[in-house]
Formats: sequence, structure tokens, C-alpha cells
Amino acid sequence: MSVKKITVVGAGHVGATCSQLLAQQELAREVILVDIAEGIPQGKALDQWESAPILGCDSRVIGTNGYEEAAGSDIFIVTAGIARKPGMSRDDLLKINAGVVRSVCGEIKNVAPDSIVIVVTNPLDVMAQVALETTGFPRERVIGMAGVLDTARYRSFIALELDVSIEDIQALVLGGHGDTMVPLASYTSVSGIPLTQLLAQDRIDALVERTRKGGGEIVAFLKTGSAYYAPAAAAVQMAEAIVKDKKRILPCAAWLQGEYGMNDMYLGVPCMLGEGGLQRIFEVELDADEKAALASSAEHVRSTVAALKALEA
Ligand code: APR
Repeated sequence: MSVKKITVVGAGHVGATCSQLLAQQELAREVILVDIAEGIPQGKALDQWESAPILGCDSRVIGTNGYEEAAGSDIFIVTAGIARKPGMSRDDLLKINAGVVRSVCGEIKNVAPDSIVIVVTNPLDVMAQVALETTGFPRERVIGMAGVLDTARYRSFIALELDVSIEDIQALVLGGHGDTMVPLASYTSVSGIPLTQLLAQDRIDALVERTRKGGGEIVAFLKTGSAYYAPAAAAVQMAEAIVKDKKRILPCAAWLQGEYGMNDMYLGVPCMLGEGGLQRIFEVELDADEKAALASSAEHVRSTVAALKALEA
């Protein structure tokens, strides 16, 4: 365990699942779970720690309502906020979650000024910007979790459709998280075989559509909450890439500074994650349709940022 401390903020469905996965994978010596709800982080952390003797993992999980225990954390995973309810769009959550992320990131800046922040709270691309602005950290250290989840959903649907191992499916999703994301069929392959050789275009289109609506599909089933197993697994995979300096290339929301012709905004792009956080952004070739879809996704993110600024003016 090279990393000493990872803190998860928000001990709800996503956050508690993150802390469990982090501890099980022994990605840090200490996993701190912070939440404003009294007793919840303490109870969940203790329960998880009590599973350690059975699972054989030595990461200490500690629950708390404050940030003292989080001081000096190497990585924060921010999941605090309100989850989407049925009929509620991601944008409905905007103002409440911006306030939560701002207060959380104010604490992070104070207790761990050198940390790396992985933002999970939705609407993701905008919350990542709030985190960047509040912490004042460089873009290398504020990254949003979106594309890993979106590609995981896409890959899981392709595996079902083709009845092949999920391990062999490579996919790339760009753009904002959710309805406007841009799955790139030309960069999707099954053990190197282009997806377009294995599936008819109308089937690919159907899988893309299901991926776009993937979050909503889970909300419709759960009724009182939103997805958490896959979102947590995605955030933890990003943390793992950083902790182990794996230099994995994962689709993440990154603060763009000219890449893809965009400036000063978060958008999902292929990122290399390793020590220090974001190490490199890859610019891939896009056809005219993909460029147009990315531009419209970027426009959606920009308009949400503008809506938030207007709400808070
Ligand atoms: N500080 C710390 N924790 C907070 C704060 C705050 N200021 N405000 C809210 N929380 C906590 C809540 O007490 C709750 O325990 O955040 C937790 C959120 O948990 P859930 O309601 O279970 O939501 P969850 O399903 O985990 O989703 C969290 O992740 O994927 C996104 O869209 C999702 O934005 C949502 C976030």
C-alpha cells in the first residue's frame, strides 16, 4: 500500500460502496468515510471494518462527521449530495449539489491541499468545475468520474448482446455524462475486431441509446435512488490507476485547455491517470458526426454551468 489515506465524502450508496471496494482492494492504509449524517459514516465504516477479518484486508475504515481524520489524504472521492429521484433530471440537482460540493471542497482545500479529487456528484461535469474553482487545485488534481461508468455500461450491454467476455470489449465514450455522451463506435472493438463487423448498425444504435439512458434505467427500477455499484466501481478504478501509477487510459471528465477545440470546461475525454492524477489527455480523430455530437454535448455542459451561475447570481 503506497498510499496512506483515501477519503470518501458522502457515506450514501455510492460513497459507502466506494469505501468498501477501496478497503477490499487495500488501495490505502486508511479509508476515511465522511458524511454530515450523524452515525451513518461511523456505523457503515465499523461494519466494513468488521468484515476485514473475513475478507483478509488490512485497510482501516474509519467513519466520521468531520474532516480531522481526513487531513493529509492523498485522494478524495466526492460523492456527497442528493441522488437523482424518478422524474428528476440531473440538472434539477444543480443548485443543491453545487452548494454541497463547494462546502466539501472548501474543507478538502484546508485539510489536504496536495490531494487529488475525484468528483462523482452529479451533474458531474459541472460539479467538477465547482470543485476545481473551490479548491484552486491544478487540473491534474481535479478529475470527474463519468466516462468509466458510461463505457462500463456500454461494454456490459455489448457483452450481453454478443454473449462474449466483458474482458475483451474495449470502448470509448466522450462528452458530458449522461444523455449527451458520445459513444464512439469506430473506437469500439471486441478483442481488436471492430464492433461494426460484429453487429448491424441498428443494433449498435440501440446499445448506444440504452447506454445514454443507462442511469435512468436504474432509477426507474430502484424508484427511490440511483445507481451505485457501477458508479462506485468506476471511481475506485480511477483511484487505483492513480495509487498504483498504472498510467491507464480511461475516459474521464477533464478541464480542457484547448483540447478538442474546447477551453475552460470539463468534458469527458481519454485521460492517462497515474501518479499525480491526470498525466495526459489524448486527442483522437473524430468524424463529422462525432464532432457535431461532441460540440452539442459541450454546449449542454456550458449551458448547465451558465444556469448554475444564473441561479447563484
Ligand atoms: N457533506 C457530506 N456529506 C453530505 C453532504 C455534505 N455537505 N450533503 C449530503 N451528504 C451526504 C448525505 O448525507 C448522503 O449520505 O451525501 C450522501 C449521498 O448519499 P445518497 O443519497 O445515498 O446518494 P448516492 O446514491 O450515494 O449518490 C451520490 O453520486 O452518482 C452520484 O448522482 C449521484 O450525485 C449523486 C451522488
